Amino acid sequence: MADIDTKEAVYVTDKLIAEDIDAYLVQHEHKTMLRFITCGSVDDGKSTLIGRLLYDSKMIFEDQLDALQSDSKKVGTQGQEIDFALLVDGLAAEREQGITIDVAYRFFNTEKRKFIVADCPGHEQYTRNMVTGASTADLAVILIDARKGVLVQTRRHSYLCHLIGIRNVVLAVNKMDLVGYDQKVFDDIVAEYSEFAQSIGIESFTAMPISGFKGDNITTPSANTPWYTGPTLVEHLESVEVLSSVDADKPLRLPVQWVNRPNLDFRGFSGLIATGSVKPGDKIRVLPSGKTSTITRVVTYDGDLDEAVAGQSVTVCFEDEIDCSRGSVIAVADNPPQTADQFEATFVWMADEALVPGRAYWLKLGTQTVSATVAAPKYTVNVNTMEHMAAKTLDLNAIGVAELTTDKQVVFEPYADNRALGGFILIDKMTNATVAAGMINFSLRRSQNVHWQAVDIDRKQHAGLKNQKPAVLWFTGLSGSGKSTIANMVEKKLHRMNRHTFLLDGDNVRHGLNKDLGFTEADRIENIRRVGEVSKLMTDAGLIVITAFISPFQADREMVRSMLPDGEFIEVFIDTPLKVAEARDVKGLYKKARSGELKNFTGIDSPYEAPRNPEVRIDTTVVSPEEAADIIVNTLLGDA
Ligand code: ADX
Repeated sequence: MADIDTKEAVYVTDKLIAEDIDAYLVQHEHKTMLRFITCGSVDDGKSTLIGRLLYDSKMIFEDQLDALQSDSKKVGTQGQEIDFALLVDGLAAEREQGITIDVAYRFFNTEKRKFIVADCPGHEQYTRNMVTGASTADLAVILIDARKGVLVQTRRHSYLCHLIGIRNVVLAVNKMDLVGYDQKVFDDIVAEYSEFAQSIGIESFTAMPISGFKGDNITTPSANTPWYTGPTLVEHLESVEVLSSVDADKPLRLPVQWVNRPNLDFRGFSGLIATGSVKPGDKIRVLPSGKTSTITRVVTYDGDLDEAVAGQSVTVCFEDEIDCSRGSVIAVADNPPQTADQFEATFVWMADEALVPGRAYWLKLGTQTVSATVAAPKYTVNVNTMEHMAAKTLDLNAIGVAELTTDKQVVFEPYADNRALGGFILIDKMTNATVAAGMINFSLRRSQNVHWQAVDIDRKQHAGLKNQKPAVLWFTGLSGSGKSTIANMVEKKLHRMNRHTFLLDGDNVRHGLNKDLGFTEADRIENIRRVGEVSKLMTDAGLIVITAFISPFQADREMVRSMLPDGEFIEVFIDTPLKVAEARDVKGLYKKARSGELKNFTGIDSPYEAPRNPEVRIDTTVVSPEEAADIIVNTLLGDA
């Protein structure tokens, strides 16, 4: 996300501080901050409006305006013709230079409030930018050109703002000067928008006739619209309730960022209060464990507080030594959030690379990080028509609804109730790039109703009877690299040593358990997921499992690793260069792949991601299968 652009703010601040430091301090103390987003295409006068707001609130002065205008255009005073658009539409420049468009944040001040406005490009290809800008906004100004009325973009922006949870919507019917300040034009637009707004669930909005260019109803009521009795734009922006005050009235949710233990006498849990308030004496419950205690202290850098509220960063102490760590959520004891590991969620896909259903991504929700997979979407939404469409994946800028599964219980609330505990991002495990923003709609009932059944004879007893330490020797490598041959030798050796083993081989498993799967990316992921689950069950039964699958994707191998206790997953990379495997071509498949007869063949037209840090790497061009088997067995047993 772009840094907040405070260039103008710094300028004014300097001036005021230099002239009257006391006045400055009084003016700025205790002001609330409203974050809002302006939506509209460039023609709607968005930049002009923002320029007007900055100018009217004295955030920019004529001399600065002069300096900022590279072509040294003549600048007039308020009300005269100023090319505001030129001043603030920095995005236009970026667009011309072909730089990635980000969100531009502007800062300004009025007597009553501080404001941050996110200026987002409106075209469909910038959906992700709009979502980024909207994600922290309290309010959205939907700008309409009075001459054009409600457009496709108006609908798209409104939908996205609503989706992202903005509940304060201003319908600013702009350029009223160009339609002769005609009330009928305004009323018709409001009526049309009302109907649309209702259809997508926007319960209320505030409409106002304005002219960003002439200044009508921006800071002072306009004499040109005597029929309009509502607030001016700035009055409205100054008076709407900001999220932080709404959040303060909700039940306590404090996601723990870190545990503070400077000495033995002090154990505190630090984080930003997402919703509610906390004070000494409060009964709390820590999720996901569900353990309860009582708050003894609420500490900040300025000392102990009697109470802290949403938006404040604090460290709290408990009466009892209960489990609580990074990612835990401290909640009011009698009204805690839920935990679940399966959800329905809405996604905004932000990466050039499409969603791979079934692939493991990192999911960050507040301070929690877990591994998560997304199923194929139930549908995607056409953001121009709001139609639901069938889809196999999510491409850049797509919005879709899909089921989400996490590898651990997640403490959450539906996004509609709590942005902090319902909003998340997905991160690609290989590249570390943020690939999607998501909103939890609800948890799936099966995740609430299917419980883990504790059994008395567990993995420890099973392994104990066999007198061995279970493990998975996970072979990976190209087709024809020698996985099966070496795996087979390893199993024979272990068997001779009285170890209880089981070999799962790609070609064999694909005749039974996985005979419904082919070689698309999604099918390979599912292939490995199932083999991972089976391996896990077999280690629970106390076995040493040997698997021989190409398993071409790092993320999927890592997923299996994360399913097993530390040290039980041993990745064995059978490193045979493509040209060597191809020259051997034991099954004649490379020949078929080269001729085009066989599609999606690993190494030819389907990728193979070599392990980065395998526990064992066998270079089959220098090590014989016999030697390789010895190395692998020694690694396994040396470890035991
Ligand atoms: S994986 O990619 O999903 O891990 P797996 O190890 O189960 O693959 O199966 C690979 C075996 O299937 C290969 O050894 C080869 O014999 C056969 N095979 C058939 N088609 C393909 C293909 N398109 N790509 C790779 N292997 C294939």
